[in-house]
Amino acid sequence: LNAPVLTIDGPSGSGKGTISRLVAQQLGWHYLDSGALYRAVGVAAGWADLDLSDPGALVRCCFDSRIEFVEVPGQELRILVNGRDATDEIRTETAGAAASAIAAIPEVRTALKERQRNFRQLPGLVADGRDMGTVIFPDAATKVFLTASAEERAERRYKQLKEKGVSVNLGDLLREILARDARDASRAVAPLRPADDAVCIDTTGTGIEAVVERVLSLVQR
Ligand code: C5P
Repeated sequence: LNAPVLTIDGPSGSGKGTISRLVAQQLGWHYLDSGALYRAVGVAAGWADLDLSDPGALVRCCFDSRIEFVEVPGQELRILVNGRDATDEIRTETAGAAASAIAAIPEVRTALKERQRNFRQLPGLVADGRDMGTVIFPDAATKVFLTASAEERAERRYKQLKEKGVSVNLGDLLREILARDARDASRAVAPLRPADDAVCIDTTGTGIEAVVERVLSLVQR
């Protein structure tokens, strides 16, 4: 029997990560941060000094890189790339931009498909990304698509980075977010779009708690 899946897709800064983690915690389900996987490949490619426009090299990088998600209860998920802790490095805008460029290559997406599907295990999975409901888990029982205005998403990222001690400019962040959105939505393979059977939730001006409650109410238990 297939474990139940809840997919949560949406653009960067829509609150996917926070909401997905909290919902997974509440349900006691596993959690897949698919963006972290693309980011980890981006970091691995950076370390190896690979050309981001060379699909062959990037696909080899997907197969050759050891990417591990280390769950320590009560702590932030650690991400190891070839044995090295890359948890902080994958969150930088550089890694995000590399991830987005890499994610536009069809062969890379194919190479990462099985890896993502392997996260589907009992008692259930919350899968967070761009194409969880459309491509990776099209048969998921519950699909959510989160959005928020670009301005609010930029502000959320700004606060997040500031708390981490990273100094950034809000205007730059907004421009980067808009550029990444455009690239993610316009690519030929697995563009960012809600699945036909997804419930769309606009989180602009809505608190985390309320969104978590709304998503939980959609999951049939
Ligand atoms: O969600 P996050 O911002 O960490 O994702 C980084 C990038 O990885 C996105 O901009 C997108 O290009 C790519 N991605 C993707 N498919 C996913 C998750 C992330 O293409 N399922």
